[in-house]
Amino acid sequence: MVSDHVVLWVNGTAHAVHGADAVQPLSAFLRSTLHLTGTKVACGTGDCGACTVLVASPQVHGQWTPINACIRYVFQLHGCHVLTIEGVGTATALVPAQRAVAARHASQCGFCTPGIVLSMTAVLHNSANTASTAAKAIDWPTALSGNLCRCTGYQAVLDAATEAATTAQAGGLAIPVPDSAWRDEAIRHAATPVDLRVCSPEGTLRVVRCPSLAETLKHLQTNPDAVIIGGATDFAVEQTDRPASVARDRHWLATDHLAELQMIREGAPHASGHRVLEIGAGVRWSALQEVCIHTCPPLAEIIGRVGGPQIRHAGTIGGNIMTASPIADLLPMLLVMNAEVVLTAADASRRVPIAQFIIGYRTVDRRLNELLTAVLLSLPHDDEVLRLTKVSRRHDGDIATVALAVRWREEQETLRDVAIAVGGMGPMAVRLTHTEQALEGQPATDASWSVAASQAMDVARDALHPRSDVRGAAAYRREVLRNLLAFTRADQQAERVP
Ligand code: FES
Ligand code: FES
Repeated sequence: MVSDHVVLWVNGTAHAVHGADAVQPLSAFLRSTLHLTGTKVACGTGDCGACTVLVASPQVHGQWTPINACIRYVFQLHGCHVLTIEGVGTATALVPAQRAVAARHASQCGFCTPGIVLSMTAVLHNSANTASTAAKAIDWPTALSGNLCRCTGYQAVLDAATEAATTAQAGGLAIPVPDSAWRDEAIRHAATPVDLRVCSPEGTLRVVRCPSLAETLKHLQTNPDAVIIGGATDFAVEQTDRPASVARDRHWLATDHLAELQMIREGAPHASGHRVLEIGAGVRWSALQEVCIHTCPPLAEIIGRVGGPQIRHAGTIGGNIMTASPIADLLPMLLVMNAEVVLTAADASRRVPIAQFIIGYRTVDRRLNELLTAVLLSLPHDDEVLRLTKVSRRHDGDIATVALAVRWREEQETLRDVAIAVGGMGPMAVRLTHTEQALEGQPATDASWSVAASQAMDVARDALHPRSDVRGAAAYRREVLRNLLAFTRADQQAERVP
């Protein structure tokens, strides 16, 4: 049986959501339909965290995950449990984060406060049974980097977080944990295909959610015009000025719930001998970061610069690749590691090197009946250096102005296997093959990199066409690239000194 609606739980109550309500951002549904106005909307584009809510999914039991409600559609939360600020504490029984924010005067206008309280509460709840409960062990600036405040300054917020952690340790972190009855019910709903339609004078928007990868591919085979929706952290921002309910005839196919796209496992080694990590296209940034802390620390570090925690809990690896943005955080890294993507159709599958898959500005070589299902990421050998750099206006929660990935090794004081890729220097992320060739076989000295930086500028003048925009002028981007390259090896050497 196919369902024409989705079901989600909000603060313990189940809601069957039909039609236009199901295709609006969760923030709009909470505020306008359920009148839960504690969820604030400031930017509406996933940048500030004012709309933070917590989500529990039946797959990850016992954890509350902070997400931005303004860029998450209601239909994406089919079978999930949403906790808003109204579901946390009461006027007479505040949770530790609420008490500490009030006691430390960490709120003025209060617009960011519900989001901050929920982000703090999620960290305290999720770490309650681990050694990191120790108040000092929690990296609060990172944990709260997805929540912006324009009134108080951040010290009071950080003080409140530290105090809340101490109080929570002493007990009293009373936020609800969805029970197994909810979980069974949620799993039952998630196993039901959804096909809902929103009709308006302008046309019909159809949203389909299949329970399995096989059914999704079958649907795509007969509906090649469907727009594939992953985490939607980019897609939803694009739609902000174009409400879904009034879109012309369109067809959205949800994929980020598919269990088959959530795996991270070691694959067969690459022909070059590199170990390969097979990453499902639906894997979230936060899940990959956790794995990479041990398997590929430079990648884990750069993932820490992707949005804030709310974005990293929602955005998918596949989405970052498919948008093919010139400043997509992952692409330079994939290019230098000769990654391959796996494209799957109902009746066939193929592997394509990433350099051939990205073919232009936000354009990829995907056939209409194919779904990106995985990326095969080669991991650097022990004797290889991998440096990933992202320059942005803000350290956290911002997108790149220039991104650089460099891989090389040194053999008898000579540079070998040099690979360099840049983002933000033209319509798409690219390898700097001329510069790579110029460095190959050169003495492993800082001077070699300096010469290469000059050469890269020659290439930049002739072949790279960075744009001037709000993130930086073209000339600034060229200068940034020159400096990053010139100091690549020196920076790496400096970091090796204990
Ligand atoms: Fe700013 Fe949602 S309102 S992230
Ligand atoms: Fe006003 Fe944070 S208290 S934005």
